[in-house]
Amino acid sequence: MNKVPVIAIDGPSGSGKGTIASRIAETLGFSLLDSGALYRVLGIACHRHNTALSDSSAVASLARNLDIQFGLSGEGSVSLDGEDVSLAIRTDLGSDMASKVGAIEAAREALFQRQLDFRVAPGLVADGRDMGTTVFPDAALKIFLTASLEARAERRYKQLIAKGIDAILPALLRDLKERDRRDSERTVSPLKPAEDAIVIDTTDLTIETVVKKVLECYSAA
Ligand code: DC
Repeated sequence: MNKVPVIAIDGPSGSGKGTIASRIAETLGFSLLDSGALYRVLGIACHRHNTALSDSSAVASLARNLDIQFGLSGEGSVSLDGEDVSLAIRTDLGSDMASKVGAIEAAREALFQRQLDFRVAPGLVADGRDMGTTVFPDAALKIFLTASLEARAERRYKQLIAKGIDAILPALLRDLKERDRRDSERTVSPLKPAEDAIVIDTTDLTIETVVKKVLECYSAA
């Protein structure tokens, strides 16, 4: 049994999980797994290789052989085959493809071990959709972050603009709704809180408040 502690932070897009997870990891000196980035890179790779999403074994084979590196061209960067794809994976296309490949069971299986490999001492903060339910069911702490659709769309909008990526708020809102539906309704590892997860609604909370709450929960766990 792996005794390295994991803090699982799940939730829909824009719930704040990426920011919160990286702050918690930094504070505790833990590693960080942004599992969404793995799905995003796989989505972009499928697009570049013209891999049909209906061909699940081709998608899974691509997933198994992906050359992904984190931090190669700076902190928080993501590379595919040695090329920095940090911006490409955050575009609308990256979001859409990630949500679509995420619904393919064989692709999830292929990415499973890669996610487990992030569990190294002294600990791991893992953010995604199924960290607490499927990938790390024995996590020391499971947090499920939510926020209203409007608040999440607005956060995504600000994030994209800050990165120099064009964005239109009503279109983001519509896309977010569609991705929420797809991520929650899929049969394999749907987006839902683990039974033992602590649910935090971040709509009206600052990042600092949420970080404090999660750290308190971890101390008490
Ligand atoms: O967390 P994110 O917005 O970067 O995730 C992008 C997409 O990837 C999301 O719409 C669904 C998919 N995903 C998933 O299916 N399972 C995860 N653990 C993480 C992300």
